[in-house]
Amino acid sequence: MIAVARNAEAGGGPALGDAAAAPPLPRIAAERLGRVFETRSGDTVTALDALDFRIAADEFVTLLGPSGCGKSTVLKLIAGVIRPSSGRILFNGTPLAKPSRDIGMVFQRPILVPWRSVLDNILFPIEMLGWPVRKHIDEAKRLIELVGLRGFERARPDELSGGMQQRVSICRALAYDPQVLLMDEPFAALDAMTREELGIELLKIWTQRRKTVVFVTHSIVEAVLLADRVIVLTSRPGRIVKEIEIGLPRPRTLDMEFSGEFKEHVEEIRALFESDRRARA
Ligand SMILES: Nc1ncnc2c1ncn2[C@@H]1O[C@H](COP(=O)(O)OP(=O)(O)OP(=O)(O)O)[C@@H](O)[C@H]1O
Ligand SMILES: [Mg+2]
Repeated sequence: MIAVARNAEAGGGPALGDAAAAPPLPRIAAERLGRVFETRSGDTVTALDALDFRIAADEFVTLLGPSGCGKSTVLKLIAGVIRPSSGRILFNGTPLAKPSRDIGMVFQRPILVPWRSVLDNILFPIEMLGWPVRKHIDEAKRLIELVGLRGFERARPDELSGGMQQRVSICRALAYDPQVLLMDEPFAALDAMTREELGIELLKIWTQRRKTVVFVTHSIVEAVLLADRVIVLTSRPGRIVKEIEIGLPRPRTLDMEFSGEFKEHVEEIRALFESDRRARA
C-alpha cells in the first residue's frame, strides 16, 4: 500500500487502490527469525539467529546447509509446530500463530500410523479435515503409482522399507493439496537412482499444481536440480550466506547436471561452504 501511495504522490504511478500495482505478497516471509533451544542439561543452543527471507507463492526453494545449522528448525517454525524465540513468520502476510491446514510437511523420518494401510495413511489428513474421503481415493492411488508403490495399497508401514515409508509420507502430504509443501530431506533414505527419479516426479507434480515448496537437503546437486532459488545456510547458528537464483530452464532433466551453468552453481556453493569451514577452523 505504501509503495502505491508513493507512486501516486509522484504523479506518474497508478491510482490508489489499483491492486495490479501492489507487489504480490510473499507466501512466506521470515523476519528476524530466531530460535533458541534449552537442552536437558539446562544449556541453551541458538539454532537460528535473526534470519530474513521471503518465498513467493509459486516458488520452489531449497534450503542447503551443514548438519545442525537449523534447517529442520526453519521448517518446523514455518509449519507452526514450534514457536520462534524472536522474530516472526508471515504466511500470506499474516503472522503465523498455529499450524495451518494450508501448510503440509514431510518430515525427515516418516511418521505413519502403524495399524493403517498405505492407502489409509495417505487419506488420513483428508479424514482429519472432515473432507469426503471417497472423492480423494483415485488421486491417492494415482500418487501411489507415481512414487512406484502400486500393489502396496493395503500393506502396513512395518511391511515396507524405510524408503518406501518415506514415499508414503510424500503422497500423504500431496494428497490433500496444501498451498505450501515443506519437505525435510524427503529423499535422504532412498538410493541415488530412486532419489533422482522422485525429484523429477516431484517437479512434475509441482509444475501441475504450482504450490510453494520449501525443500531441505544436504545434497548440493539435488538443491540445484530442483530449485528456482537455493538458500545457502552456514553452520549453527544458521545464517544465510547467499541466495542463488537457478535460471536453468524447466522442465528440468537429469542431463542438465552436465551443463556448464549447473556446474558453475555447484562450484559456487562448494566454495561458500569451504570458506565457511575455513572461517570457523
Ligand atoms: N528440541 C531440541 N532441543 C534441543 N536442541 C535442539 C532441538 N531441536 C534442534 N536442536 C538443536 O538446534 C540445532 C539445529 O537443529 P536442526 O535439527 O534444525 O538442524 P538441521 O540443520 O536440520 O540438521 P540435520 O541436517 O542434521 O538434519 C542443533 O544444534 C540441534 O542440536
Ligand atoms: Mg534436519
